Amino acid sequence: MTTNASLPLVGKPRRTIKTTKVRARGEDFRIVQVHGSLLVCAVENCCCGHTDKGRPPVPMDLYNREWNARRLANHVHLTFTGCLGPCAAGNNALLVIHGRPIWFKDLNDDSLVPAIFDYIEAMLAAERVLPPPPELRDHIYDRFLPPPASDYVPLVASEDDGGGLERIDPVCLMDVDPKTAKWSTEYHGRTIYFCAPACKRAFERDPESYAIT
Ligand code: FES
Repeated sequence: MTTNASLPLVGKPRRTIKTTKVRARGEDFRIVQVHGSLLVCAVENCCCGHTDKGRPPVPMDLYNREWNARRLANHVHLTFTGCLGPCAAGNNALLVIHGRPIWFKDLNDDSLVPAIFDYIEAMLAAERVLPPPPELRDHIYDRFLPPPASDYVPLVASEDDGGGLERIDPVCLMDVDPKTAKWSTEYHGRTIYFCAPACKRAFERDPESYAIT
């Protein structure tokens, strides 16, 4: 089930968020649908980031800083992963955006990290996949074979119950039950619920960056 709701906000540009209702462990949850994921090979891997193999360390702090500073959490998820497969070409990362996988290789210079996020932001603004900018052109290749058909086919049917956003903690995107939520705040006539006091504090420091529609 997919929902798409709009709430009145002022100030910074509105961000549209959709949720999908899923069942797990016998319960219903709302999961925020994002435009993609950036998977960076960095954790307990065999090659990427291993200085003893001649690779520079993976600058995880820099990835996190860029991701946080650009407020991308509601749009593109960031994950540090184990081996992605093409070790020889590392350091490696895989971006999936607007349904398209984009493989990065040879990420052996910290200046490439902000360039990747600039590229992501440009594709979010354009609402389509764009050719890579010059500074990334030598760091992108096609690892996957092209799909056999270009038409997008949903893997499962979805149903729409017309709700969901009121349950989403806008900072961490967790599904929070308003009936049991311990932390909340009022924003533009709407009660926003949080899973933890840290999320509430982050929202209240900069509500327009986190407010979702
Ligand atoms: S260790 Fe990074 S792709 Fe294998």
